[in-house]
Amino acid sequence: MPSAINDTAIQAAARALEQGELVAFPTETVYGLGADAENPAAVARIYAAKGRPQNHPVIVHLAPEADPGYWVPAVPPEARALIDSFWPGPLTLILTRAPHVPAAVSGGQDTIGLRCPSHPVAQTLLREFRQGKGGLAAPSANRFGHVSPTTAQHVLDEFGTWPGSPVRHVLDGGQSEVGIESTILDLSRLDTHGPVLLRPGGIGAADLARVIGIAPSAPDAAAPRASGTLESHYAPATPVALAAAPVLPGLLRQLADGGRRSALIRRTVDAGPTVAQAVLPADPNGYAHGLYAALREMDAARADIILVETPPSDEGWQGVNDRLRRAAHDSTGVLARLLPPPV
Ligand code: TXA
Ligand code: MG
Repeated sequence: MPSAINDTAIQAAARALEQGELVAFPTETVYGLGADAENPAAVARIYAAKGRPQNHPVIVHLAPEADPGYWVPAVPPEARALIDSFWPGPLTLILTRAPHVPAAVSGGQDTIGLRCPSHPVAQTLLREFRQGKGGLAAPSANRFGHVSPTTAQHVLDEFGTWPGSPVRHVLDGGQSEVGIESTILDLSRLDTHGPVLLRPGGIGAADLARVIGIAPSAPDAAAPRASGTLESHYAPATPVALAAAPVLPGLLRQLADGGRRSALIRRTVDAGPTVAQAVLPADPNGYAHGLYAALREMDAARADIILVETPPSDEGWQGVNDRLRRAAHDSTGVLARLLPPPV
């Protein structure tokens, strides 16, 4: 069961982590499924619980006072500047991994992802865990490929509460503020590739460029693997399709006329016939905050399709558009199949 948030519950969670157990905890982006980053058996439990391939690296979370230099042979000046500007906060930096850090956290790669979350519960947990000197390996607390959780209830929906569940400790810290996963910037190949944006998130490319004086580039073929960068990810069970506001009412009408059940996530458009709807804010931060809860809610409506009103394409929407594109990836062609044949 989710524990009410008090210091005793957080201390108990820290002790469980020190014993090699898993603890789900809130961060400002999404909920994480944490394990001691320096205990390979504990890290292996995360992979088993999620059903995640072994070669996908996980992010190591640090307390605000922790020394990132413990985890890497050297902290490049670009990383130092970004840490000073954006930590604690939704920015993960990929750096070369120090030889003493177990390879299990990086899926065997020679890099490591580091992040310092700003959520107060995450920070208290990280300060309690091994007196703030350890690191918590934590992917999002969902089964592999599913939508990330932004509430403690979402975590329970993913892993259940039965006695044998691999996730017995869930700290409840309310709804995650940012709502989509951290921005991931690769600084491990600065000399040859410069900074590379592996995953857009709450901190935009322009914000990063302002601090390091160079715009990050898009991932190349040799970029470090990141499961959040798989074409299909963050996906509900119901097919997802994006549709522009002007065509949405007509599409909904045609689907309904053909006996199809539609769920809709909208911002502005006045909708047509649906079995469920979620209205998200018109600004990108508000939209990101509510997106995953809306996807889960629409998924629960057991519709034939979840239609999403296409958001604007400006830079501020990059993180949201990235997640929606991945959620819709496996549904290519579904809309055409559901529509009645043209007469
Ligand atoms: O906001 C977040 O980042 C959340 C919260 C819990 O902190 N965590 C999260 O973890 O989204 P996860 O595992 O679901 O996604 C982390 C991404 C994955 O795509 C992973 O492959 C990538 O980070 N990653 C981690 N370490 C890496 C490394 N050394 N090199 C390349 N990619 C890495
Ligand atoms: Mg994830």
